[in-house]
Amino acid sequence: MLTFRNKLNHTDPETIRKIAASTGFFDKSDVEVNYTLAKNVAFNFDENHEFLLAEFDGNVVAYACFGELNDARDGTYEIFWLSTHNTFRGCGIGRTLINKLVEELRSRGAMRLYLKTDSKAQYAPTRNFYESCGFTKQAVLKGYYDDSDDCCIYAMDLKHSYDDSNAEYQEAAE
Ligand SMILES: CC(C)(COP(=O)(O)OP(=O)(O)OC[C@H]1O[C@@H](n2cnc3c(N)ncnc32)[C@H](O)[C@@H]1OP(=O)(O)O)[C@@H](O)C(=O)NCCC(=O)NCCS
Repeated sequence: MLTFRNKLNHTDPETIRKIAASTGFFDKSDVEVNYTLAKNVAFNFDENHEFLLAEFDGNVVAYACFGELNDARDGTYEIFWLSTHNTFRGCGIGRTLINKLVEELRSRGAMRLYLKTDSKAQYAPTRNFYESCGFTKQAVLKGYYDDSDDCCIYAMDLKHSYDDSNAEYQEAAE
């Protein structure tokens, strides 16, 4: 059974490190960033990041690290990191985790959810995943990660249930 929790215990950072490493998508320093963020959140040293964990039969198998952005309008959030353990990838856990996060953010009155991801081919399934979860591509920052790897910025409107591509039309109609 899949369950969710947002309070990190002291063993979660190590589990998060293992999940991040299992994906094969992140280099060593990225894996350490995930671990350190989780550790700081678990010990209440970090107010700018939060985690939502997905547990399958009591074991953490996926997580989202997210937070409210200080330099944007109120209610603007970003997903900073997202991973499903390699063994569980493609089982619907990531989508359920995103849905749960969206539900939580909507309950806080959040407006918009952003994320950044890579343009390189390895991330094509990830981009498809985000699009199938309801995110739309807003911008591309050329050469952000390296000369051949751009940063794709995606967003989801949390205030309305419609797709962002209709946002202009819908807002004009209100
Ligand atoms: C992206 C990620 C978090 C998605 O989590 P997940 O648990 O695998 O996602 P789901 O099983 O809910 O997949 C939802 C849909 O995306 C598709 N999908 C997700 N990852 C896929 C992959 N690697 N290859 C093919 N399809 C994939 C699924 O087939 C599914 O489609 P469907 O609902 O039409 O069948 C996970 O694949 C992952 O950890 N990837 C590596 C790290 C990464 O890219 N993180 C994001 C960095 S920005």
